[in-house]
Amino acid sequence: MPFSGKKILVGVSGGIAAYKSCELVRELRRRGAHVRVMMTSRATEFIAPLTFAALSEQPVLTNLFAPAPASLEHQYGKAGQEPNAAIEHIDWSRWPEVIVLCPATANLLAKLANGFADDPVSATVRASRVPIVLCPAMNTAMWEDRLVQRNVSLLKENGYLCVDPEFGALATTAEGEGWGRLARLDCILSEILAALQQHKPLAGKKVLVTAGRTEEYLDPVRMITNPATGRMGFALSEAARALGGHVTLISGPTHLTPPYGVAFVPVVSAAEMADAVQQHYPGVDVLAMSAAVSDYRPRRAAPEKMKKNAASFQMEFERTVDILATLGEQKNRALHIGFAVETENELDNAKDKLRRKKLDLIVLNNPRHAGAGFGVETNRVTLVDRSGQIQELAVMSKLAVAFKIYERALELN
Ligand code: CTP
Repeated sequence: MPFSGKKILVGVSGGIAAYKSCELVRELRRRGAHVRVMMTSRATEFIAPLTFAALSEQPVLTNLFAPAPASLEHQYGKAGQEPNAAIEHIDWSRWPEVIVLCPATANLLAKLANGFADDPVSATVRASRVPIVLCPAMNTAMWEDRLVQRNVSLLKENGYLCVDPEFGALATTAEGEGWGRLARLDCILSEILAALQQHKPLAGKKVLVTAGRTEEYLDPVRMITNPATGRMGFALSEAARALGGHVTLISGPTHLTPPYGVAFVPVVSAAEMADAVQQHYPGVDVLAMSAAVSDYRPRRAAPEKMKKNAASFQMEFERTVDILATLGEQKNRALHIGFAVETENELDNAKDKLRRKKLDLIVLNNPRHAGAGFGVETNRVTLVDRSGQIQELAVMSKLAVAFKIYERALELN
């Protein structure tokens, strides 16, 4: 599991968005990470440290020198591998694999950009060598202030990762909408995932992923499709970005939100997907074709809504372009990863597809198996590579499957 057992330190500074960091801590815990929280004294005016202590099940660092409150230590245990009550922030700076500053106020950004270390958060960051993820949140005027922008640019130039705020409703009704709202939780989690990857085997590589289903319209209001939701392809995009890739995701209709930092191309039909893939294919290093593309479409779709006059009707269907097979013919250096959904003769069918479509790796799954299939968070797949090697994976999250797929595929290069 990509977050499982990871040590993540969340630093909270004093802005109204501090309440959203509770959700961040919860979500990181739900994904199996160990989380600790440190707060500036201003942050404690927005959220009580007890809230974070309960969510993280760890004492919360609120003071530069004093230890975490004894009552919380009693309840949640002492923090720090080698506790040093006098200089707590030094112990804490050595503990995490990633530090996330959420929210990062204009004041915290100014301190960090100018080398200050006079509160538990800025001092711990200063004393640490791990990747730092900034999640700024403030009102529009503050965010657009030139000095704030200068500080953010300076921090980015110095290796700080930053999930820029987005446009949307701000904290008070008087402010209305504007830039400065804390980034969505899924964007922050994606950036933490990327920060956790010490090795970036896809750095500088172009990755093209397809996801979801296609829809083939019979008339203006009816279509044939399949139950694919796009989860596996979205997970493949998120993992590829975390591993350093420049990712383009071409997806059929879906309710999922496009992953953070990924170029998103929405399409509807198999023909549109084929065109989009052809357009983005030049220069691709890795192609992961997880879309459940319709194999047939109506030869002639009805221009108007069909009325139910007849007791039955017939419609002629024709084959769509096989995108992977077509690209297989053009292929030179790119790694091609295909998917096979099979309900019988699984391995033989998958091996046959691997050969026919000139793939490097095929990911086989049977939607009837527990923990696999359409619309669920997990998958159980078997990887078959071009040399015939077979690797059966246990049931795991689609994101974890995505990392395993790249690991295996990149070994083949
Ligand atoms: N695929 C494609 N273009 C299509 C159909 C499928 O590129 N028109 C890709 C899918 O994205 C998947 C792989 O081919 O990666 C396997 O798709 P599948 O439909 O299972 O394979 P087919 O060769 O169509 O075999 P069959 O339908 O007979 O099982």
